[in-house]
Amino acid sequence: MSEIIDKLAVLETVSKKLEPNEKIREEIHRPIINYAQHFLNTVNQTKVYNKIDYEIEDHFPSDFDDQGEPIEKAINHIRDYVHFPGLNPASGGHLGYIPGGGIYTAALGDYLADIANDYAGVDFASPGGVAMENSLIQWMAKLVGYPETCGGNLTSGGSIANLIAVTTAREAHNIKSANIPKTVIYLSKQAHHCVDKAIRIAGLKECILRYIEINEKFQIVSEGLDKQIKKDISNGLQPFMVIASAGTTDVGAIDPLSEIGKICKTHNLWYHIDAAYGGFFILTEEGKEKLKGIELSDSVVLDPHKGLFLPYGLGTIIIKNKKKMHEAHHYDAAYLQDVASTDDVRSPAELSPELTKPFRGLRLWLPLKVHGVNPFKACLEEKLLLTKYFVQEIQKIDGFEIYLEPELSVATYRYVPKTGDANLFNEALVKTTHEDGRVFISSTTVNGVFVLRLAVLSFRTHKDTIDLAIEVLRDGVEKVLSENTFAETVN
Ligand SMILES: Cc1ncc(COP(=O)(O)O)c(C=O)c1O
Repeated sequence: MSEIIDKLAVLETVSKKLEPNEKIREEIHRPIINYAQHFLNTVNQTKVYNKIDYEIEDHFPSDFDDQGEPIEKAINHIRDYVHFPGLNPASGGHLGYIPGGGIYTAALGDYLADIANDYAGVDFASPGGVAMENSLIQWMAKLVGYPETCGGNLTSGGSIANLIAVTTAREAHNIKSANIPKTVIYLSKQAHHCVDKAIRIAGLKECILRYIEINEKFQIVSEGLDKQIKKDISNGLQPFMVIASAGTTDVGAIDPLSEIGKICKTHNLWYHIDAAYGGFFILTEEGKEKLKGIELSDSVVLDPHKGLFLPYGLGTIIIKNKKKMHEAHHYDAAYLQDVASTDDVRSPAELSPELTKPFRGLRLWLPLKVHGVNPFKACLEEKLLLTKYFVQEIQKIDGFEIYLEPELSVATYRYVPKTGDANLFNEALVKTTHEDGRVFISSTTVNGVFVLRLAVLSFRTHKDTIDLAIEVLRDGVEKVLSENTFAETVN
């Protein structure tokens, strides 16, 4: 017996290293805070993209010391081998893909959530945490014009949110394996690839996927959609679901949301809208107008880690008919008999694939409480205006043309050289800007045309960033021209 007690005492001493006392907490805390302060003080002054010429894996061996090392050493490692190489998504100069955010108060929300480790998947365990998350869902539901009877879930991001929507739709329309070959899903080639992935993961890849014609603004042609649905019905197929986008990733297009809503109602189809990127522009007057019809959908995805500038890790799915969401996701387990009740439609675990999950609500609730909604509105309006400003200014440089007038905050444009292949030129140009690294832009290919994208969504992007982007593009053109056979100069 005493042997056990002696051993326990030894183990307790060593294991207590995991529970630093206040003094040690302060010692660990300080260098972390100092580093975070320095990171934030210089975030818009350092390069947004850093190419490395060594094997990054060499710095991440798969073994760890038994004894540990000083926090300062670990922080230096993070600085040099995580934060330095590649893309800095926290920078306002991140103007590629769909930029993320990283507002400070959200990080503090995460800190508190992790310290308390609230079990916000289940109402029984954390009624406050669950109520907080549900209040956020209701706030977003009001924004898109859903009734209070809707349900939702705070997910890790847009991909899982889309998956929850597709799964709920499948259950709501009682799609079984026997009728899958006759079941039709309608979407456009502009839908985010995570939608295709969700369809596959939800077991629906053998449904008929109809990629509906899009117009010159990359929007679903609603007459074409209606015609196809009628044709499918007359051919004995079973139209099931339409997936529209409110802000596509490629060019920021918004499908005709109201018209699609009417078509879905007429044919009794599940109407899903992926508004992961564009949804929060509804907080602006311009966005509200452009997103009219969003309220007609059965389910909608909105990503606070895009449009509300949060650090990565927060998407949202809202489903108009909460009962359907619950039916698709609820569970029973003997070991949870004290927790579960059949009428529990509050717990996130009853409405999503997750049981244990991070308490994601605090990272959104705290910023909304502390800052209020106004700075978010202003920031979104600023992004729309900055995009217009970019479009205006870039066209002042001879050779640059706008590919598509931006709907929201994604601008597509390219440089057309006087001689040579424009696609190759723009490919070289985007590479040059990455080597430059002062801002980060990305590219896409639409209808065989290689175009550059400028996506304005970081809360740290302001007018000076756009001016810098224009300077980088101008310098880039000169560099490509000087290094290639494109014989001309930039005005
Ligand atoms: C329109 C759209 N939908 C869905 C997604 C996927 O979201 P996530 O990367 O958060 O999973 C993205 C990502 O950029 C997106 O732009």
